[in-house]
Amino acid sequence: MASRLASALLCALLIASCGAESDDEPIILRNSNGMEVHLLRTGACVQRLLVPDSAGDTVDVMMGFDDAESYRNGTSVSGCIIGRYGGRITGGKFSLDGKDYQLETGKDGNTLHGGGIGYSKREWELAAVSPGTANGTNDSWAVLTLDSPDGDQNFPGNVSLEVTYTLTDANELIIDISAVSDAATPINVFNHPYFNLAGLTSDNATILDHVLTINSDYFIATDPETGTPTELEPVAGSPEDFTDAHAIGERIGEFANTIKGYQTQYLLFGTDKASEDFFGAEPAQLAATLVHPASGRALDILTTAPTMVLYTANSLKGKFETKGGVRPQQYAAVALEATMLPDAGNEPAFPAPVLRPGQEYRNHVVWRFYDV
Ligand SMILES: *[C@@H]1O[C@H](CO)[C@@H](O)[C@H](O)[C@H]1NC(C)=O
Ligand SMILES: *[C@@H]1O[C@H](CO)[C@@H](O)[C@H](O)[C@H]1NC(C)=O
Ligand SMILES: *[C@@H]1O[C@H](CO)[C@@H](O)[C@H](O)[C@H]1NC(C)=O
Ligand SMILES: *[C@@H]1O[C@H](CO)[C@@H](O)[C@H](O)[C@H]1NC(C)=O
Ligand SMILES: *[C@@H]1O[C@H](CO)[C@@H](O)[C@H](O)[C@H]1NC(C)=O
Repeated sequence: MASRLASALLCALLIASCGAESDDEPIILRNSNGMEVHLLRTGACVQRLLVPDSAGDTVDVMMGFDDAESYRNGTSVSGCIIGRYGGRITGGKFSLDGKDYQLETGKDGNTLHGGGIGYSKREWELAAVSPGTANGTNDSWAVLTLDSPDGDQNFPGNVSLEVTYTLTDANELIIDISAVSDAATPINVFNHPYFNLAGLTSDNATILDHVLTINSDYFIATDPETGTPTELEPVAGSPEDFTDAHAIGERIGEFANTIKGYQTQYLLFGTDKASEDFFGAEPAQLAATLVHPASGRALDILTTAPTMVLYTANSLKGKFETKGGVRPQQYAAVALEATMLPDAGNEPAFPAPVLRPGQEYRNHVVWRFYDV
């Protein structure tokens, strides 16, 4: 902590020592196994996540862009921090303490990932970086902060956010998000990754061969017309059941006539009801495991968040260009998002996570890479 404080001070005095020259230059965390994490100030995004395997092959497992502008344009939120309320808010409306709020809505009449200029499109401040980060060996970290003013995208309260990314020699990227507010506000801030453990290196790359396990017995069913959450449903006997390992492609055809793939929010850790403990509890527990059998590359996701969204990029159609000129198609990557309950409390069965003055919002996630 003392060293973190000291280097924060150094950072404040000597901005040039904070890792990068221009604002679009990535901040690079490195560990002693050759893993690298490239962070952008825009959206506090994980732009590149370079993971070596035991054969010495290093692949970039995060979908993303070569340029920061694509993130600012909102082409994809992959790897970025989203908020003030990630996910969907039906009709862009919510009520809090007897007051109704109307947010900016998208084409479908709902608000997605915080609205028009959500946190993934903002320039975050690099507040501190570990002394070794420029050539770091291990335990490299960086802290990014954002002030979200009262009325931001029509949300109430001045919210101060901080995200700390820490890369360890155990090949873990730890993402620790915290926020405080001076007025009550619904909140759901988290990193929204799209992974492909084989590397998204060609237009026809897919994650259908990735094998997934999710520590969840219930998912949140949604209205097929509106997509709003309705009730909890047991996963048992459904294609949503990942309590045992299954290839993502194994049962995805069962959605061919509906939403074309997985878009499922799971209640984690065997819970059978939406908890009032909105912000989860330490320590982070194992929520999901993703394995690419051909390379043996594997990822454990641990979190304190109460739910995980699985989304298999069902609507990608090669419309935009990602790193290296690749145009990802349907199922090119898989999102595994550690989030709070959906829809800002519009559905009474799923009360809104509300941050009040004096409380601290936390979202703690660990992405742990290894070989099987
Ligand atoms: C971002 O959006 C602007 C304005 O629409 C456009 O001119 C620019 O080409 C876009 N850039 C990228 C990289 O998509
Ligand atoms: C950091 O790494 C670069 C490239 O590997 C090297 O040129 C430079 O001398 C290193 N700096 C320090 C302080 O070790
Ligand atoms: C937000 O901060 C501004 C500027 O400090 C202040 O004037 C305003 O009262 C604050 N809003 C709330 C809801 O606390
Ligand atoms: C950092 O690296 C050094 C040298 O490789 C090692 O001795 C030490 O245990 C590492 N620290 C952590 C926290 O992994
Ligand atoms: C996938 O694309 C690559 C290059 O774009 C090509 O070489 C390969 O044959 C394609 N594979 C399949 C199965 O279509």
